[in-house]
Amino acid sequence: MSTTSSHTAAVTVATLRKLKRNGEKIACLTAYDASFAAMVDGAGVEVVLVGDSLGMVVQGRETTVPVSMDDMVYHSRAAARGQRRALLMVDMPFMSYATPAQALLNAARLMQEGGAHMVKLEGGAIQVDTVSNLTARGIPVCAHLGLQPQSVHRLGGYRVQGREAAAAEAMLQDAQALQEAGADVLILESVPSALAARITAQMTIPVIGIGAGPDCDGQVLVLYDMLGITQGKTPKFARNFMPGHDNVQAAMAAYVEAVKSGTFPAPEHCFD
Ligand code: KIV
Repeated sequence: MSTTSSHTAAVTVATLRKLKRNGEKIACLTAYDASFAAMVDGAGVEVVLVGDSLGMVVQGRETTVPVSMDDMVYHSRAAARGQRRALLMVDMPFMSYATPAQALLNAARLMQEGGAHMVKLEGGAIQVDTVSNLTARGIPVCAHLGLQPQSVHRLGGYRVQGREAAAAEAMLQDAQALQEAGADVLILESVPSALAARITAQMTIPVIGIGAGPDCDGQVLVLYDMLGITQGKTPKFARNFMPGHDNVQAAMAAYVEAVKSGTFPAPEHCFD
C-alpha cells in the first residue's frame, strides 16, 4: 500500500491543520444523504458536515432540538456511503452529550454505525471535560461556539453572539479552553467579524466560520441555503450560488472557489 500523498488523498485532521498553517481556506458544506455527499465531495470541499440542521431543512422542524441520535446515525451512514475524500464531520444532537459518559457512547455510535470521522458538539467551558474525554479516546472533536442553535429556546432566537465586551471575552476564553482540552476544529456561528478574526488568530486549530466574517480559516454553509432551496427566511450570512449556474454541481464548485479565493463571505454576509 502506498503512503505517498496525492491530490486525492483523504482529508484528515492533519490536512486541515496544514491548510491553516499555509493560509489556505478550508471549504465545508452540509450534506445529509449519499447523493449530495458525493456531489459536495466531488466539488472539492475538505469537510462534509452532517449537521443537525437536517432537522429543519430535511425534516421540516422549527428547530434542531427534536433531532435524535437515530436520525443522526441514519443520515451519517447515508452520507458516508456517498463521500470519498472529504472528512465526514457529524453533529451530536441535543442532549446526546449532556455528560462525558453519555457523549462517549453516542460519539462511538456516530463513528461505528454512522461512519463519522469527527463529531461536533455545541458549548464552551461546560464541554471541556467531554472534549478531553472524547479526544483522549481517539475521537476527533469539532467544538461549536457563538450562536448555538440547540440553545435557541434559552437564547430567545437566532441572534449574533459576542457583541458585548464580556461575552466576547468569554468566547475567547472558551475557545482557548476547548483547544487545550483537545478539540481539533472550532466552528464559530454568527459572531462579529472582528471577534472571529481575533479568535482565529489566537488558535492553533482551524476555525471554520458561518456568519463569522472573512478571516476564519474556512467557511461552512448549509447546503440548502447555498442552493437557494431553503423554505422561508434564509440567514443574512447565507448566499445562494445557483444564479449564473445551470446545474447544482457548478454552483457547488463556485462556492468552493469563492471560499478558497476569499470572495465569500462578502461584507453583506458579515456582522459588526
Ligand atoms: O447543523 C449544522 O448544519 C451546523 C452548521 C450550521 C455549522 O451546525
